[in-house]
Amino acid sequence: MISVRRVVDGELAALREVRLRSLAADPAAFGSTLDGERARPMAFWRERIARGPWFVAWAEREAVGVVSAVPTTTPAEYRLEAMWVDPARRGEGVAEALVDAALSWSRSRGATSVALWVFDGNPAARRFCERIGFRPAGRREPHPEKKSQVRECLRIQLWPGC
Ligand SMILES: CC(C)(COP(=O)(O)OP(=O)(O)OC[C@H]1O[C@@H](n2cnc3c(N)ncnc32)[C@H](O)[C@@H]1OP(=O)(O)O)[C@@H](O)C(=O)NCCC(=O)NCCS
Repeated sequence: MISVRRVVDGELAALREVRLRSLAADPAAFGSTLDGERARPMAFWRERIARGPWFVAWAEREAVGVVSAVPTTTPAEYRLEAMWVDPARRGEGVAEALVDAALSWSRSRGATSVALWVFDGNPAARRFCERIGFRPAGRREPHPEKKSQVRECLRIQLWPGC
């Protein structure tokens, strides 16, 4: 049984652990690196959850997935980042439960759309995103730091009350 909850201040160590696990397991999926984030002090993680919500999927007491929603410069749009599911729990709908929580939160904050970046060469993530309703937003570019990797913006429209 999976439950998805927004991370609170007392769960920062668990958030750090699952995020570092994701960067170790799937470095090519993310713009950030394990070394970069492992070195960060606890204040970094506290600032992260203050900037936007992080949601963790729990199987009993084990964190098996994560996603965050961060504000953007586009009015009424949030961006999903750091989406990851433990390889042992893939194919069970964990990512959809995480994204549902993030989209509900975004809608409750007045968002009319939610975007994310997906790297070329990550067909599983892209298929997942398109299956749940994300569509190409017409923007492709090299990642600002990992310049050899091209990323594409996908977006989903949210309609209030739906
Ligand atoms: C993308 C991701 C979050 C999807 O998570 P998920 O909870 O497995 O999503 P789903 O349950 O919807 O399954 C997705 C696909 O994996 C397949 N799958 C089933 N068992 C699997 C397994 N053991 N391992 C890998 N994939 C599996 C599913 O059949 C499904 O395939 P389909 O798209 O062809 O239908 C996950 O693959 C992941 O963490 N990838 C690495 C990080 C990443 O790419 N993040 C996204 C950045 S934009």
